[in-house]
Amino acid sequence: MSNGGRLKVFSGRANIPLADKIARHIGDPLGKITLANFPDGEISCRIDEDVRGRDIFVVQPTCPPVNENLMELLVMLDCFKRASAARITAVVPYYGYARQDRKDQGRVPITAKLVADLISEAGADRVLALDLHAAQIQGFFDIPVDHLYAQPVINDYVRSLGIPPRDFIVLSPDEGSVKKAVAYQKKLGGEIAIVDKRRSSATETRQANLIGPSLVDKTVVIFDDMISTAGSMVGAARTAQLAGAKEVYACATHGVLCGPAIEKLRESAIKEVVITDSIPLPPSKHLPCLKVLSVAPLLAEAIKRINSNESVSTLFK
Ligand code: R5P
Repeated sequence: MSNGGRLKVFSGRANIPLADKIARHIGDPLGKITLANFPDGEISCRIDEDVRGRDIFVVQPTCPPVNENLMELLVMLDCFKRASAARITAVVPYYGYARQDRKDQGRVPITAKLVADLISEAGADRVLALDLHAAQIQGFFDIPVDHLYAQPVINDYVRSLGIPPRDFIVLSPDEGSVKKAVAYQKKLGGEIAIVDKRRSSATETRQANLIGPSLVDKTVVIFDDMISTAGSMVGAARTAQLAGAKEVYACATHGVLCGPAIEKLRESAIKEVVITDSIPLPPSKHLPCLKVLSVAPLLAEAIKRINSNESVSTLFK
């Protein structure tokens, strides 16, 4: 039985191809909406169909340009609230501003909490997120958050590589990603190794030590939640190669790929970089070594289950 009326998926302009794929999996075209910018840059929004009493899902990752995409999400949520939708779910496949999730020094904001407040205040009744930078961000919301993981999608791909278990090393690129690496290792097998990463600024990282078994002649797969400037991923790959790894793969849910990322990945010896379509990949960022997996079926299934009041947690298994 549906909780919020007939479902309808709408998309902001951040990742229309993903929203379109989600809608196709659901079997209903994207809702009609006109989004544009006023001459001064402000966002204009008009819903071009009746949404009164409908169960609305607004797909909008807050990827770069982060402020523009975030503001567009807020404007859309406000628009649906005022158009009398029965229930509004913000589907945020990539949650920007997530890395400032605590006061790790004096006089800094907690932007992950600020964004949660903005999304709730703008009109969202629920949030559907994918691989939040920190799972605790769910608690920054006072509305229900369904937190999905791309791990099953990435696992299937890694399994298809056919790496013999005795040669397989799951590598965490820093201490913060150890839990994630353990989750992958539990499903995929192999042994765990950890890179001791030291970050000196938003763009500078240094890989100090390697903790764990020998990597000599092993196939190393690095798992992280995102590749932003690629400093962490390429640094971890270099550490693995210096330690004698035979080949290195890199997997991350979110390909933010900003700043020098593409250049760094191109010059690295990583055999394949696996990301998902939570963030669109413009043609200028295509690399032969980049493999993009789709999370659309996963998100579509979650949307259908939320609409029909079925368990979403079974999707985590
Ligand atoms: C760190 O906490 C994250 O899990 C990623 O490792 C990091 O944000 C990636 O950033 P970059 O690609 O700029 O090193």
